[in-house]
Amino acid sequence: MANYTISLMTALAIFCATLSLLYGVYKRRKLRQNPRQWPLPPGPKPEPIIGNARHIPFDFGWLQFAEWKKSYGDIIHLNALGNRIIVLNSYKSCIDLLGQNAIYASRPRFYVVAELMGLAKLTPFLPYNDELKQHRKFLHSTLKKSAVVRFQPAEEKQMKWYLSTLAAEPQNFLQNIRLLTGKLVAQTTYGVDVKSADDKYIVLAEKAVNGVSSVVTPINNLWNAFPILEYIPDWFPGAGVKTIAHEVREIVSHMVPASLEDVKSRTASGDCTPSLASAALESGNYSEEDIMWAAGSLYFAGADTTYGALVACIFAMVKHPEVQKKAQAEIDRVVGKGRLPTFADREQLSYIDCVIKEIARWKILVPLGLPRSVLENDYYDGYWVPKGATMLPNAWAISRDETLYEDPERFWPERFEGEAGNNAVDPFTYVFGFGRRICPGLHLADSIMFIFLTTILSTFDISKSIDEQGREMEPQETYVPGIIQCVISLLHTTRARVQLATI
Ligand code: HEM
Repeated sequence: MANYTISLMTALAIFCATLSLLYGVYKRRKLRQNPRQWPLPPGPKPEPIIGNARHIPFDFGWLQFAEWKKSYGDIIHLNALGNRIIVLNSYKSCIDLLGQNAIYASRPRFYVVAELMGLAKLTPFLPYNDELKQHRKFLHSTLKKSAVVRFQPAEEKQMKWYLSTLAAEPQNFLQNIRLLTGKLVAQTTYGVDVKSADDKYIVLAEKAVNGVSSVVTPINNLWNAFPILEYIPDWFPGAGVKTIAHEVREIVSHMVPASLEDVKSRTASGDCTPSLASAALESGNYSEEDIMWAAGSLYFAGADTTYGALVACIFAMVKHPEVQKKAQAEIDRVVGKGRLPTFADREQLSYIDCVIKEIARWKILVPLGLPRSVLENDYYDGYWVPKGATMLPNAWAISRDETLYEDPERFWPERFEGEAGNNAVDPFTYVFGFGRRICPGLHLADSIMFIFLTTILSTFDISKSIDEQGREMEPQETYVPGIIQCVISLLHTTRARVQLATI
């Protein structure tokens, strides 16, 4: 009995010693990670084991994150199954942290997108490494403000094509915007003239982009914690994401290399249509591998976003006829009625610039940006930002911040006019992301929005549809869950303002 008591005491002592040793190791590790011992940013109370996994909304997360701002402030911490997520709800925190600081320039590991879909080498999914720097060098040199000027004649030409479709088949205006953006991106990237919506560039790319957009949501990123997904049978609940992933992989592994091969064989046979890919090949500054993936990225990152931006232009004009009239008056005054607007008119179309800014703010296309990952432990605004955390910039919350914009829900381009307007935060400084990962397609997207809006407004009136009782129908806003938020159906009518044949 005595022996038994001693051994129990010894066991207890060993247990306590082990516990205090483990606690010591844990404390030392915590101290090494967070020497200042500052707290994590606040957030909803985590549940045992799963943390905040049940709190993170499946879709439209930016709305919930903005709501939480009222209780927890600009910076919110969530812990989902060990994955730390930090939401930045203010312009200042996004600029301060994601602005130029290299430690915030990486991306989290996108297991589904990178490994299952085979997209690890596309620019948006690369971590912050030498390969990314090469991609960005190439993209910057070909898409910077002064460089995109050379795509303007092609953009003006494609807009004429779009006008002809608007006159001939107005009911297909959405499909034709899709085709227009596909044409512009394919032409810019590969020098290909896409002829119809059935073209492989449009059909396959759209399928792949939709697949990616549907899985890159905060909740889907949780799959990153479970690479075991690969071994789960396709029929298992929740494994539907695997089927999408395999389809995308099929398309991408064929399309990305084939598109570059196409450029090479056309160049060899004397076709000199300029494109980003042909310019990069000619320069000899980049490896074929880098050109192939950086060029492939443009379709993925550019087509759907630009499409969304153009649909948002039409949506805003249907909803706000008073803005449409004012914009048309400016175009008529500067351009007249005998020709179409060109980029040369832009400097004099200051109200149009305000309208474009307001559309970008009011209909945020990528409301949570693309997630970033922190490379080093950091401290900000009294809080610890742990290494490895996923950062989500809530661009939607910025666009609705009443300290930045008066009556933020209102569509009101005049907020950017005059001296007060010059002091208002320009939406282009956050809707395209930040710092070292800012969208390289910003200037291209801006120029396409300009030529689209001015060309259409100079030639057409856009108005609400009329129902059988002769009443105006309000356009409905319906969105599909995903990283890109685009109005998916739009009821409206268009009426030509001028004889198209004469211009
Ligand atoms: C209105 C249209 C567009 C919007 C709102 C938009 C928005 C964004 C955003 C928010 C990011 C993430 C930036 C960050 O992490 O800070 C991004 C990245 C990117 N965008 Fe865009 N974009 C648009 C059009 C385009 C176009 C037209 C192209 C190219 C033709 C393009 C190419 C890219 C690429 C390659 C990246 C990845 C950059 C990187 O990870 O380093 N985007 N875009």
